[in-house]
Amino acid sequence: MSFTVAIDGPAAAGKGTISKAVASHFGFAHLDTGLLYRAVGAKVLAGADPVTAARALDPVDLENDALRTPAVAQAASEVAVIPDVRAALVAFQQGFARRDGGAVLDGRDIGTVICPQADVKIFVTASAECRAQRRFDELTGKGTDITYETVLADVKARDKRDRDRAASPLVPAEDAVMLDTSDLSIEQAVAQAIAIITDAGGVASRL
Ligand code: DC
Repeated sequence: MSFTVAIDGPAAAGKGTISKAVASHFGFAHLDTGLLYRAVGAKVLAGADPVTAARALDPVDLENDALRTPAVAQAASEVAVIPDVRAALVAFQQGFARRDGGAVLDGRDIGTVICPQADVKIFVTASAECRAQRRFDELTGKGTDITYETVLADVKARDKRDRDRAASPLVPAEDAVMLDTSDLSIEQAVAQAIAIITDAGGVASRL
């Protein structure tokens, strides 16, 4: 039996951490859909055509630490505005969402476009400054040489592109539960997400 949790929100709001933790809590599979766009973005940086790269994407392409760099994140946000790129990635995401045993997908348009029938939808948000600080700490922790101001500017540029694009813009689904993580610890944010899924989904009785 399938059970789909859609977790959307802007860059560095905590979606990834929350999604991994709730997937592990409920024993669901997890797909970070940003990796699909990052993998296409990385191929474009290497000279590929975006639509051709999206159509030829292989799940193996997602297992690559180099997809986590700021340059690839910007490239991902740029290819994500192309409707044919988005269309090429729909079937894979929907197939993942329907798998037996439950699935958590995190991204920008999961609750609105990819899985409008998801059993639970959560929109994770936080202030741009708070998100930039978290991303700055993460990048400098990995040894990346970058300033907070650059990270904040990158976050704002990606927010604008993700929200303003015509194809599947970043917007909460009408029936999404909002989760603002600005003043929450990771543990508190995860606990709230688990409570939302438990309340909304009747998880145990569905699987
Ligand atoms: O979640 P992320 O930072 O890895 O996403 C990278 C970019 O991919 C993001 O700026 C917009 C795009 N994206 C998207 O358009 N739709 C998704 N479902 C996931 C990511």
